[in-house]
Amino acid sequence: MAPEADHDPENEKNPPPLDEDDIALLKTYGLGPYSESIKKVDKEIKGLAKKVNDLCGIKESDTGLAVPSQWDLTADKQMMQEEQPLQVARCTKIINPNTDDAKYVINVKQIAKFVVGLGDKVSPTDIEEGMRVGVDRTKYQIQIPLPPKIDPSVTMMTVEEKPDVTYNDVGGCKDQIEKMREVVELPMLHPEKFVKLGIDPPKGVLCYGPPGTGKTLLARAVANRTDACFIRVIGSELVQKYVGEGARMVRELFQMARSKKACIVFFDEVDAIGGARFDDGVGGDNEVQRTMLEIVNQLDGFDARGNIKVLMATNRPDTLDPALLRPGRLDRKVEFGLPDLESRTQIFKIHTRTMNCERDIRFELLARLCPNSTGADIRSVCTEAGMYAIRARRKTVTEKDFLDAVNKVIKGYQKFSATPKYMVYN
Ligand SMILES: Nc1ncnc2c1ncn2[C@@H]1O[C@H](COP(=O)(O)OP(=O)(O)OP(=O)(O)O)[C@@H](O)[C@H]1O
Ligand SMILES: [Mg+2]
Repeated sequence: MAPEADHDPENEKNPPPLDEDDIALLKTYGLGPYSESIKKVDKEIKGLAKKVNDLCGIKESDTGLAVPSQWDLTADKQMMQEEQPLQVARCTKIINPNTDDAKYVINVKQIAKFVVGLGDKVSPTDIEEGMRVGVDRTKYQIQIPLPPKIDPSVTMMTVEEKPDVTYNDVGGCKDQIEKMREVVELPMLHPEKFVKLGIDPPKGVLCYGPPGTGKTLLARAVANRTDACFIRVIGSELVQKYVGEGARMVRELFQMARSKKACIVFFDEVDAIGGARFDDGVGGDNEVQRTMLEIVNQLDGFDARGNIKVLMATNRPDTLDPALLRPGRLDRKVEFGLPDLESRTQIFKIHTRTMNCERDIRFELLARLCPNSTGADIRSVCTEAGMYAIRARRKTVTEKDFLDAVNKVIKGYQKFSATPKYMVYN
């Protein structure tokens, strides 16, 4: 009778040794259903990463130079003597295209125009009219096709490093996220749906709402989620010193966007350039208006089924030019309102996720205590609560800290709150 033997006091003192089944059972204790397979995949990934690193070989150092032991100065010098640097020219016209004796008219800036042939390494299909090309300095033969010239300050606007904000970091805003994804992701992932129905997907979205309600945050989450190239432009970056510069930057921006497979252009604080046109008598704002008109023009220029989506964010949609907002340019307008109770609770939870808090803080209560406050306010409350804890030399934040912080931020800073003012406009 084994079960009864278990209860024997003598057995209790020196229990029977565990057999293999028991040990196997104990080993599974605390493991999730997928732990084994996750571990396996982890190991595989590590192996692959190592393999890739090995194949890549030696990396460049931080300075961008190879290690000095690998320098080959004499060979470099010799190569520089042999290969003359090329000159940049523009191919303005092709004479007799698609035949054997095709000739190319090139325009070398500040020198002259020439009719030349192709170098040995270029095929006739690579060269198009209006292209930038590299020519050699003796016979001016076309040696290499060059990509279009894009202002480095425009190229720099591309967001290469994905921001670490995900949709999970945006509290509330369910509708807004849904609407945004519908415009941005659906046409890129399922273009055939639109083709079948015969409608054009919206080209762009305008996000508006009081400051600190998460417009920029959501755009960053979109950038994180998508594999498309993400270009972020601050409105004021396009206001330039010289006439025509801003418009040229917009043109180059869209040119760059068109050259990508899929691209999202995000204009933040678009009221800096998108203001309604008016005549101030001096003409000081004309330049800004021209920049805006170029955006309007470019919005018309690209195909809605194409690969470019435009997002804009502003606090003051009422000041924007109606031409910018009309359907067909920015079809979708997404309002970011103040978060409701549930959203506020969620935002509290998001911002305290990384904080060292006491166990059961009543976020619901805290959210109730901050009516009419934005996500930014709530973030500030969390930071202040942390400050109280630091002042009291504690390592964890208590609920009392939060209550004090709510008093300080929400009640004390009420004077600074611009939200009601913006709510009037929106
Ligand atoms: N819904 C939200 N969920 C979580 N955090 C939020 C939310 N809204 C705002 N925040 C917090 O507030 C900060 C500021 O928000 P954000 O930069 O998106 O404001 P904005 O709407 O772009 O304001 P502005 O119009 O002044 O540019 C964010 O970094 C984030 O920490
Ligand atoms: Mg913003």
